[in-house]
Amino acid sequence: MLLLEIQNSQLTIDYQDIEVFLASRIDMDNLVSLCKRRGLIFQSSEIYGGINGFWDYGPYGVTLKNNIKQFWWRRVVQWRDDVVGLDTSIIAHPQVWVASGHVAHFSDPMIDCKKCKRRFREDDLFGGTEGPHEKEIVSKEKIKETKCPECGGELTPPRQFNLMFKTHVGALEDEGSVAYLRPETCQSIFAQFKNTQIVSRQKIPFGIAQVGKSFRNEIAPRNFIFRSREFEQMELEFFVKEEESTRWYEYWVKERFQWFVDLGIRKENLRLREHTKEELAHYAKGCTDVEYQFPFGWSELEGIADRSTYDLNQHMKTSGKDLNYFEEETKAKYVPAVVESSLGVERTLLTVLCDAYDEEEVKGEKRVIMRFHPEIAPIFLAVLPLSKKLEPSAKKIDTGLKKHFTTDFDVAGSIGRRYRRFDELGTPFCATYDFDSETDHKVTIRHRDSMQQDRIAIDHIETYLRDQLKK
Ligand code: GAP
Repeated sequence: MLLLEIQNSQLTIDYQDIEVFLASRIDMDNLVSLCKRRGLIFQSSEIYGGINGFWDYGPYGVTLKNNIKQFWWRRVVQWRDDVVGLDTSIIAHPQVWVASGHVAHFSDPMIDCKKCKRRFREDDLFGGTEGPHEKEIVSKEKIKETKCPECGGELTPPRQFNLMFKTHVGALEDEGSVAYLRPETCQSIFAQFKNTQIVSRQKIPFGIAQVGKSFRNEIAPRNFIFRSREFEQMELEFFVKEEESTRWYEYWVKERFQWFVDLGIRKENLRLREHTKEELAHYAKGCTDVEYQFPFGWSELEGIADRSTYDLNQHMKTSGKDLNYFEEETKAKYVPAVVESSLGVERTLLTVLCDAYDEEEVKGEKRVIMRFHPEIAPIFLAVLPLSKKLEPSAKKIDTGLKKHFTTDFDVAGSIGRRYRRFDELGTPFCATYDFDSETDHKVTIRHRDSMQQDRIAIDHIETYLRDQLKK
């Protein structure tokens, strides 16, 4: 692996990905520095030298992230009759992770250098792409032949390293008080299946969705925010009759692909990759990843899986509680199968950033634009008085529109510089208040993508912008 220092941010790149990375180096370089410069993403604890695998989201990053979560929630929960939401605790009863198999199996094989003590993921040294944990371990002969890429030292055999963060609940720090920060949000959905089904009066087929933090003590966090140790997931568990699971699995693969297209991601940068039989967990009937062509190669964005009745059965076995579903109409009692859709907020954010980034030349000058979908842009409208003298009148417009849109107000610097700043923040519209505005009560609305300018009456700005959103 290589550690690259790009404008004070560190990026870890796989040897096998270096060619792809170098080919697109300019984009990633610019992207990382833009994220810092424009208050989207900072290195966590930067003033102390940072902490690997953790990131902080600045004033515009937090809004962009929230907008992405809302874009998902609206389409997966709010606009549907057959999905309800849930928000469960990050720390659950440790038995949840025994039932799910995480205590026994949620591990990555790792290899240490006996000389320099550096630790590597096995697949970083011996190939492999981003993917599920618990991979095959390489042969002893292959390890002997291979030397540490950092110092040439001898390597240890691979050892399984559990990726869950451990903590203690209560005053005693003994084995009995061990708890885990959740490595995925879905297990609490299964544990709360019965309560949620009863109170929501949902009938099968129906889904339970959750957005929340997950934690994995990844051995090699890398590729900016792509693989971190603290991240958020947006997960949907859709409960169906076992004999109907294939139909629903196919339905959700299509739905989820379309969601990325609706988010504005270019189709040519997206693909579906169906898992081979060898890759599938023993209980899974099918799994498809939505992948994106990142500057470091095609990588997993989301997994859609037909998980059969495995999860609910495991929790029934471990808890001793009945999680069967009772079908009123037929009086039948059965364990539903689950079709899961699981994606990371940060991976979606990185996808949005990579896909929206654009550069063009305007009148001999470089213009950097983030072409965000207007629904997720961190600022929807920037109100810009042409001169300081016009600030009070322009501020009134901003205050009025704040109730309807995410707005920003900027009076500093030339109008050209301000346009460039808002282009980089992906602001779809700027409203410029000039000296004529005092008499004609109109502003100039500038479109981010086409740079077209329309003169619009102040009273009509809200309607005008709403109409633009419908286009
Ligand atoms: N419940 C199934 C599950 O968690 P997963 O493939 O381990 O499956 C699902 O994770 C999604 O969560 C991934 O497709 C990715 O978008 C996101 N994700 C997983 N590990 C991540 C990490 N270390 N950093 C950022 N996102 C991660």
